[in-house]
Amino acid sequence: MCGIFGYAGNEPCLHIITAGLRKLEYRGYDSAGVMVYDDAVQVAKNTGKVDDLLPHTHDLSARATIGMGHTRWASHGKATAANAHPHWTPAAAIVHNGIIENHAELRATLSDDNIAFQSETDTEVVLHLVVQALQSQPDPLIAFSSVMRQLKGLYGLAMFFACDPHRIYISRKGLPLAIAAGKDAHLFSSDPLALAEHSSDFMFPADATIVVLERQRLALYDYDGEQLPLPVAQHLQVPTQKIDKGSYRHFMLKEIHEQGLVLANNIHRLFDFAQLRPRAEMLALQKIDMQRVKRIKIVGCGTSYHAALLAAVFAEEQLHIESLAEVAHELRYRRALLNDQTLIVALSQSGETADTLSCIEHARSRGCQTLAICNSPHSTLARTCDALIELNCGPEIGVASTKAFTTTVLIWYLFVLAVRSAHARPLTKDAHNLRKLPLLIDYVLNSTAQIESVARQYRQARNFIYIGRGPSFPIALESALKLKEISYIHAEGYAGGELKHGPIALIDHDMPVLVVAPQDDYFLRIVANAGEVKARDGAVILLGNPKNRELRALSDTIIPCPDINQPLLQAIVCAVPLQLFAYYLALEKGTDIDQPRHLAKSVTVE
Ligand code: M6R
Repeated sequence: MCGIFGYAGNEPCLHIITAGLRKLEYRGYDSAGVMVYDDAVQVAKNTGKVDDLLPHTHDLSARATIGMGHTRWASHGKATAANAHPHWTPAAAIVHNGIIENHAELRATLSDDNIAFQSETDTEVVLHLVVQALQSQPDPLIAFSSVMRQLKGLYGLAMFFACDPHRIYISRKGLPLAIAAGKDAHLFSSDPLALAEHSSDFMFPADATIVVLERQRLALYDYDGEQLPLPVAQHLQVPTQKIDKGSYRHFMLKEIHEQGLVLANNIHRLFDFAQLRPRAEMLALQKIDMQRVKRIKIVGCGTSYHAALLAAVFAEEQLHIESLAEVAHELRYRRALLNDQTLIVALSQSGETADTLSCIEHARSRGCQTLAICNSPHSTLARTCDALIELNCGPEIGVASTKAFTTTVLIWYLFVLAVRSAHARPLTKDAHNLRKLPLLIDYVLNSTAQIESVARQYRQARNFIYIGRGPSFPIALESALKLKEISYIHAEGYAGGELKHGPIALIDHDMPVLVVAPQDDYFLRIVANAGEVKARDGAVILLGNPKNRELRALSDTIIPCPDINQPLLQAIVCAVPLQLFAYYLALEKGTDIDQPRHLAKSVTVE
C-alpha cells in the first residue's frame, strides 16, 4: 500500500529517494511520485511502477539535497498520474499514507479563492488547508499543526514548504512512520525496511506529534506547538540484503517451496526434543498471565483470519477456554465483551495491517492482554502488543501469503502445547508428529508435477467451490482465497455440511468442486458430501491420500496429500498442495502472480 520515503541531507537525493521507493515496492502500489527542491518545488509522478516513473524524473534537479517520494495504492480516486503523490503547489508539497475521513467536510471549509484541485484525493485537501493557513500564519509549524488538529482518520504524512526549504514536517496518527539518521542526513519512511541501508536505529514518533526534520537536527512537537523530548531510538535488525527469487519464476513459488525448511527451523527453535516440551520462554508464555484468561479472541484479516479460525477451535478444545476467531475490523466496531480477563491474539504477517492494529488499540483500551504472532519484529503490531512470538519465516514478498500462513498455524499449535504442558507428561506423540511434518511437506512438494497437471486440466474453469469439514473448512476458505487472489477465478469455500443448505444449487458439470478430504474424524462425512456433488454431475477434485479406496471410487482426479494424525498439522499439510494448485492455475491464466491487481502486501488503510 502507500509508502513514504524522504531525505534531508548533504547529498544529491533524487536517486536516494527512488532507491527508497524501490524498497517499498513489495507492499503493492499503482503509481509513484517524487519531489525535490532546488530553488523551486519540482515534482514528477506517473502511474505504474518506479521504473515507469524514472524517465519522468530526468528534468528534476540532480543536485537537490532535500525531497520526498511516495508509492500510492488508490483509495480516493483512480490510479492516475494526477492522483499520484506528491500533491503540490509552488508553496508546498505533501505525501500521505492513510485516509482523511473528514476530507469532504474539510474541503467545504476551504475558502474557494482560486483553489483549483488537481486531483480527486483526500490528500490534496490537506495541502490546500495548510497552504491557506500559511497565508495568515507564516510559521509553517503553526500552520501545519493547526490543520493536523482538524484531521480525522489514520494517517502518516509529510509536508515540505518552499518558505522553509531545509526542513520537512512529518506527522502521524495510527499509521507507522520511522525516522533514521544517515550520513550527514535525516531520513524518514513508512517502513523501516526502506531506511535499513542508512541506519539500524529508528525513532518512532508517538501518535499526534509533529517531527520537524532537517539535515542535522530533529525536533518533536505536539499539535499545540509544545516541544517534546525526542523518542528514544530503537536498534533493530532489519534485513538489508536484496531478496531475490533464486531459480524460481515467482516469489510465491519460492515461498511455497521454502515451507519444509521454515517449518523445520521453527520446530527446532521452539520445541525441545530432549525434554519433549515446547520452549515456553520462546513462546512468550512468561509475558502472558494465563491464569487470568477466561476468554481468547483471535483476530486477523484475510489469510491471517483463516489461521485464526483454525487456532480458535484448537485452543478451545485443548485449553478449555472459550476461544473465538473474528475478523479484526468486525471485532473493532461492535460492542464485544472485552476486559482484563480477555486475551486478544493478533495474527499478522506484516504487523502493519491497519484493521488489526486498530482492533488491538481498542482491545488494549478495554484492558485486554494482547499477544502478536507476527513475521515482522519491528512492525507497529509487534511494538504495540504485550507479547510477541515471531514467525521467523523470512521475508514474504509474494502478495499471496503462503509460508506465513502455515508458520502461524504451527506456532499457535506450539503455543497451546506450551500452555497445556506446563504440568503435563512429556509430549512424545506430538514430538513424533513434529518430526514428521517437514517430511510430509517435502512429499507434497515432490508431487508438484501432478498438481500442475490437474491445474492445467481446469484452466478453462470460471468458478470453483472448495469444501472441507473440521480443520479442513478453514483450509477450504484459505485455498479459495488463494485462487481468487492470484488467478482472478471466482472461488468460494464452504463447510461440507453447508452444501445442501444452498450452494448445491450451483452444481453442474461446469462447477468443479475441490474436496479437502484428509483421513481424519470428518473423513466419511466429507466423502458423503463429495458423493452429493458427483450425483449432480459436478466435477470432483479430491485432496487426499491417493491410496485410499473411498477416494479412488469417487474421482480420478486426486491431488496427493499425506495423512498426519494431528488436526492442526494436517491442516498445514493440506494447505500446501492447494497453494500450488492456485499457483499453477494462475500461471495458466498469465496473471501477475506476485503482485496481483488491486492487492497490496501490507494493507495500511482501514
Ligand atoms: O499482514 P497480514 O497478515 O496482517 O495481512 C492480512 C491480509 O491482508 C493478508 O493475509 C491477505 O489476505 C493476503 N493477501 C492473503 O494471501
